[in-house]
Amino acid sequence: MKVIRSIEEMQTDVQQRRKQGARIGFVPTMGALHAGHAALVIRSVNENDRTVVSLFVNPLQFGPKEDFRRYPRTEAQDLRLLERAGADVVFIPKAQEMYPEPFSVSIQSTSPLKELWEGASRPGHFAGVATVVIKLFMIVQPTRAYFGQKDFQQLRLIQRITKELNVPVQIVPCKTIRESDGLAMSSRNRYLSSKEREEAVKLYQALYLGQELIEQRVMKKPEQIVKRLTQVLSMIPNSKVDYVAVADPVTLEPLKTVKKPVWLAAAVRIGKTRLIDNILIG
Ligand code: PAJ
Repeated sequence: MKVIRSIEEMQTDVQQRRKQGARIGFVPTMGALHAGHAALVIRSVNENDRTVVSLFVNPLQFGPKEDFRRYPRTEAQDLRLLERAGADVVFIPKAQEMYPEPFSVSIQSTSPLKELWEGASRPGHFAGVATVVIKLFMIVQPTRAYFGQKDFQQLRLIQRITKELNVPVQIVPCKTIRESDGLAMSSRNRYLSSKEREEAVKLYQALYLGQELIEQRVMKKPEQIVKRLTQVLSMIPNSKVDYVAVADPVTLEPLKTVKKPVWLAAAVRIGKTRLIDNILIG
């Protein structure tokens, strides 16, 4: 497994491989890797000739009050996990090289997608994500890129932007990997105290309850489901519910009536940690 830290070296490596006809799989990450990331890498290894994984905590996608500084940085462990998962290249760019000052470009979507849910809670977040992902695509020039459904809104936005900009990459959605009790794996789970960790499973349990209510047609109005799930999530000690979404899985617009398919999502703060999760129904 090769570790590359310069943009030029990364571009040269991949251009040579592409000339030889290799299919390049790409998994962008911010490091602090877990089994959810590993699943993306393993899938890419199975479907391509060469798999590139990037580790880059992207300053552009964090708000001024967010956790950029304390975001876990665990490079040595990450490299071991990637070696085991079968990655060929790990790309670890430096922030100064990614964003030489003054840096003037920001990839913005005018789609309402970026204003909803995560977009409403985290102004500027999706512009930061889109900008870094497009930059990474220009550097790595992948045939396919792998994104987790854990960050469903991010996945939808990247699908949309690459389509509209005709970026020649296939976006591959990958299912959410969970802990044995159902909690979605996340780099931010390591912020949780053991008490908070026990409570955090209620986020998944609330979505599961929502799924039951929808499947069994107990509640016909989205507002009823939102209200019920908000109540359940509010019972977590020290929690603050950011949103509960009962929405269309393509546009992510709130549904007016409960009709499958449904995208059910929630964001909740437990103590200082903000967690998100979502499921697709039907
Ligand atoms: P990060 O949070 O490190 O996630 C990297 C990729 O792993 C994303 O596609 C994310 O959806 C996926 N992932 C995270 N947890 C997962 C889980 N439990 N199951 C399946 N997939 C999971 O998302 C980002 O980084 C950044 O925004 C990035 C796209 C790298 C741009 O900076």
